[in-house]
Amino acid sequence: MLLEIDHLSVRYRTRRGTLTAVDDVSLSLARGETVGLVGESGCGKSSLGRALVRLIDSDDGAVRLDGVDIARLDARRLLPWRRRMQMVFQDPLSALDPRKTVRKTLSLPLELHRIGTRADRRQRIDALLEQVGLAAHLADRLPHELSGGQRQRANIARALSIDPDIVVCDEPVSALDVSLQAQVLNLLADLQGQRGMAYLFISHDLAAVGHLADRIAVMYLGQIVEIVPRDKLWRDAAHPYTRLLLESIPSRSVRLSSQSDAAAAELPSPYDLPQGCRFRQRCPHAMPVCAQSDPAQSVLSAGHTVHCHLYGNGAPVLAAGVESAAIVNA
Ligand SMILES: Nc1ncnc2c1ncn2[C@@H]1O[C@H](COP(=O)(O)OP(=O)(O)OP(=O)(O)O)[C@@H](O)[C@H]1O
Ligand SMILES: [Mg+2]
Repeated sequence: MLLEIDHLSVRYRTRRGTLTAVDDVSLSLARGETVGLVGESGCGKSSLGRALVRLIDSDDGAVRLDGVDIARLDARRLLPWRRRMQMVFQDPLSALDPRKTVRKTLSLPLELHRIGTRADRRQRIDALLEQVGLAAHLADRLPHELSGGQRQRANIARALSIDPDIVVCDEPVSALDVSLQAQVLNLLADLQGQRGMAYLFISHDLAAVGHLADRIAVMYLGQIVEIVPRDKLWRDAAHPYTRLLLESIPSRSVRLSSQSDAAAAELPSPYDLPQGCRFRQRCPHAMPVCAQSDPAQSVLSAGHTVHCHLYGNGAPVLAAGVESAAIVNA
């Protein structure tokens, strides 16, 4: 396996106390695969993405790249691994240094990792600009002299300049006009086809992720509650939270139900996480056991796992009920 995130936790120490943003998360990524990571704002998606590329430190657990745990390597030993993982951020302007031209920005990672001669680097950058669809003359511009779409293309070029194996795309199109979003998504897909890197694609938009990811990981309050292959998402998603997200996709929702009230219920505080299942206060299927213990992982089929007491022994006891309560016209 290219990447294995193994029981990873990320906590922030703030004035109010310790906040758990990522809690005991395990997830893998195969070469060339796209895994979508969805969940509502504040559930810990960016924290997980940043911890795995070592932009922030994790507190517990391991991040194994080709079997080597990089979660606790010091800066010097980490350097060769850094080359293999890059990140594309949501806001392309703040992700680029305002005082550096596009060419300088693209050249820095190559210099840091001592890749090629000056002439090689120049050639490589020209080829990269062409690949991401940026005209050569834009290379001498500063970020604020580019349009939003051009900036995100520059950002993608920066992430790809050192040929990573893994790219964490953190809401890469949500700051762009709707008309540009599809273009940039297509660009990311094309580049993956050409270069074969794996994507962890972070989004709050389950519909978008459902199109482009091979597997979808659903996160709720710091935990991954379900991992489901794309072809099973619409019909077989099992966790009540996943079903709720699917229901709230506008074109699919056909009626207002009691689940909409559940959707509106307040999120528990990440400073003071409830005992048992974290989703239970919003869950239309909550049972007494849900308040007592954290649900263990159940394997429903190959590649499809869920953390939910409804599926206690691997048998989807309430699958029919969940099904009928959810999508009606899928
Ligand atoms: N540097 C930080 N210091 C303290 N708390 C933080 C920090 N960064 C994030 N958090 C908190 O950690 C939790 C997870 O945040 P994170 O940014 O990972 O969520 P997210 O799922 O990416 O949200 P969004 O969809 O809004 O980007 C939130 O409660 C957030 O307030
Ligand atoms: Mg985020």
